[in-house]
Amino acid sequence: MEKFIISGGNKLKGDILISGAKNAAVAIIPAAILADSPCILENVPNINDVTVDLQILSEMGAEVKVLNKNTIQIDAKHIRDTAVPYEMARSIRASYYFLGTLLTKFNHAKVSMPGGCALGDRPIDQHLKCFKALGSNYSIEHGMVEITADKLIGTQIYFDKITVGATINAMLAAVKVDGLTILENAAKEPHIVDLANFLNSMGADIMGAGTDVIKIRGVKKLKGTHYTIIPDQIEAGTYMVAAAATGGDVTIRNVIPKHLEPISSKLSKMGVIIEERDDSVRIVGKDEPYERMNLKTMPHPGFPTDMQPQFAALLTLAGGTSIITESIYEDRFRYVDELRRMGADISVDGKVAVIEGVEKLTGAPVKAADLRAGAALIIAGLSAKGSTEIEDIYHIERGYENMAGKLRAVGADIVKRKFPGPDAIRMAL
Ligand code: EPU
Repeated sequence: MEKFIISGGNKLKGDILISGAKNAAVAIIPAAILADSPCILENVPNINDVTVDLQILSEMGAEVKVLNKNTIQIDAKHIRDTAVPYEMARSIRASYYFLGTLLTKFNHAKVSMPGGCALGDRPIDQHLKCFKALGSNYSIEHGMVEITADKLIGTQIYFDKITVGATINAMLAAVKVDGLTILENAAKEPHIVDLANFLNSMGADIMGAGTDVIKIRGVKKLKGTHYTIIPDQIEAGTYMVAAAATGGDVTIRNVIPKHLEPISSKLSKMGVIIEERDDSVRIVGKDEPYERMNLKTMPHPGFPTDMQPQFAALLTLAGGTSIITESIYEDRFRYVDELRRMGADISVDGKVAVIEGVEKLTGAPVKAADLRAGAALIIAGLSAKGSTEIEDIYHIERGYENMAGKLRAVGADIVKRKFPGPDAIRMAL
């Protein structure tokens, strides 16, 4: 078992380079199988969710070459298999993008029901609604979703709720079908625009990504391309909060400041100084408590749910009472018990958390319940007095590239250590 051990109290100072966006990469990698010649992807984050995606592609017969740490080449012309290996697909949420890509390429796809972070009920009804509207039939048996079609035809789809995953899957499924597909009430996240740009660079005809109406005119062929994935705005936001929480002075490089606005505006409101440049932002924190604040998570351009736990960690030390309302997921407060172990004063009622600012947090042994919960515990550990041990860090490594290394480079005292797991202890007894 591996843990992060943090000795809190160091102010972060220096530069952090942001990696490519996880949630763009995990959509773009499955999309690469639509090209009839190799795709080269740059700024691919070196994280476990990407590794699983690339393993799936290799198992299915694609040739995947790692050109350097963050650049890969995918040649998918030999893929014939339309079923994704069960265990791999089940371990990540984004495996459901293979439903859209395999369906449009082969008129058939078989993928396990997706995994990913446990954040409450996460149905895929809107994905299935799109596939059906395009002319396919689906069944769910033995944990697998199977979709078949004789012929897919462009259509108009209205999403009953705003969903990133279903918007992406509908774009993927519609990109090669006959006619025009119009997606209404679509999600507008930066990675949706990035996927559309990637597909267009392969020869697709997609307009309107980034607005709530996306128009996709199907094309017959898509060719290989050379593409650079956008920077990860959630990784950037996480380090912005970490810098603020430690009263540090950090410049976050390789970012698109526009994507960070929902995060920057909340931090400024709390009293954090933010200087925006072309492709970097500088965060200057302070030692006195920040202003309390209320926030509600919303689809883009609202405040991102993927930054909610990290802000909660920061608000535990703010002056006064803050209220967080989670409106995307049923259950994204599973980090609260762990922050309480560190001295935070938080109460949760359904989708609302009330945080009373305290004078200090103290280090404690805690567990990461999911990816962003883990990031929140790291931020709390960095600002706490004493030592924090974080268990279940595999959640964190699913989505952050070299987090401990990047933090150490700006002065954090954080190391990853191996400990004997429960099995090893049982054997030793
Ligand atoms: N929903 C439905 N039906 C559907 C699809 C979604 O009811 O068919 C609901 C979900 O249950 C949820 C809401 O709609 O309550 C939003 O879900 P969405 O589809 O937007 O999320 P997702 O595609 O499952 C992606 C990211 C998440 C991120 C959300 C929201 C990936 C692989 N995951 O999930 O990322 O929180 O969008 O921005 O792209 C993370 O990175 O930590 C993470 C959880």
